[in-house]
Amino acid sequence: MQNLSPSHHHIHFHNHLQYSTMAMACANHFPFMFLALFFVFEVLLASRALSRPFDEEFMLTRHQQWVAQHRRNYKDEEEKYTRFKIFKDNVERIEAFNAGVDRGYKLGVNQFADLTNEEFRVSRNGYKRKEAKFEANSQLSTSFRYTNVSVVPFIMDWRKRGAVTPVKDQGQCGCCWAFSAVAAMEGIIQLKNGKLISLSEQQLVDCDVGGEDKGCEGGLMDNAFQFIKQNKGLTTETNYPYVGQVGICNTQKASAHAAMITGYEDVPSNNENALLQAVANQPISVAIEASGFDFQFYSSGVFTGTCGTNLDHGVTAVGYGTATDGTNYWLVKNSWGSGCGENGYIRMKRDVAAKEGLCGIAMEASYPIV
Ligand SMILES: *[C@@H]1O[C@H](CO)[C@@H](O)[C@H](O)[C@H]1NC(C)=O
Repeated sequence: MQNLSPSHHHIHFHNHLQYSTMAMACANHFPFMFLALFFVFEVLLASRALSRPFDEEFMLTRHQQWVAQHRRNYKDEEEKYTRFKIFKDNVERIEAFNAGVDRGYKLGVNQFADLTNEEFRVSRNGYKRKEAKFEANSQLSTSFRYTNVSVVPFIMDWRKRGAVTPVKDQGQCGCCWAFSAVAAMEGIIQLKNGKLISLSEQQLVDCDVGGEDKGCEGGLMDNAFQFIKQNKGLTTETNYPYVGQVGICNTQKASAHAAMITGYEDVPSNNENALLQAVANQPISVAIEASGFDFQFYSSGVFTGTCGTNLDHGVTAVGYGTATDGTNYWLVKNSWGSGCGENGYIRMKRDVAAKEGLCGIAMEASYPIV
């Protein structure tokens, strides 16, 4: 937070001296009371230092740099100013968070910095809850092939086993469900065939339209797996590249299958241990609530932040481990580009008190089978 100009330093120092002198001058008479007052002043000063408004001009420059870096185009001065205000507000909150109590993770000014949290929620996620499905088939549960797994490695990172493609970016299209399903499929295909093939999300966005999956308006990983099974495969990313909006299904491209799955299974709900058994064996599609401010700006560390279980985002658990401070985490591949989080990944606290897992990660996990 090196934004303090020399003049700020001077003012701060000056105030500090005044208060200190005053406290000491009176201390002879009422030593305890004034020692206490002195302490209060120090605390006030410290908190003022943290919450002091950022220099407007500095922030304007920072916004301009950010706009250039992220190639943002504002249509006029009015929009630019509105976006600047949001940017400033976000940056101040991020800096205040990072300067506050250490919660094991840091926030950063990423590509979402000129979006309000509400705008962010609307444009980036797109996981539909399974409620409707559960109500209809509440007795239906798939088998779980990893139920008897009794020994798992202490750490797992499917990237190191060559089962994870580079981080992708869904852009402003709520089709996280397609990215989550495809990443899990890329994983199992590599584990079975030894070849890592980047597969097509766009095919799902354009062609998986008969049921509940609705392109950029949201969908479910299980439905995507079902579609891929029925379609007898999925084509490659190269053949049917991602464009970030819904188009007409290109049946010719869609029929050039590069890999196929025979179905999917659900991980038993609300059981992080079952999820561990699963992730120890292959990358797993998971749904989380990813709508909070902390999630929007997560940049590094093990995320322990505030979130609920209102599942709205599909991602892929591609490993797990234990941080240097002893915190267990899930290694999660996101689809917001590599500029977000830890090169596109987020480590989320594992083994939390709630059976649903942090942000509901253990609620609706599933995986394709071959
Ligand atoms: C797990 O073990 C039980 C008891 O040995 C067995 O009946 C069951 O088929 C096994 N389940 C799986 C999925 O392997």
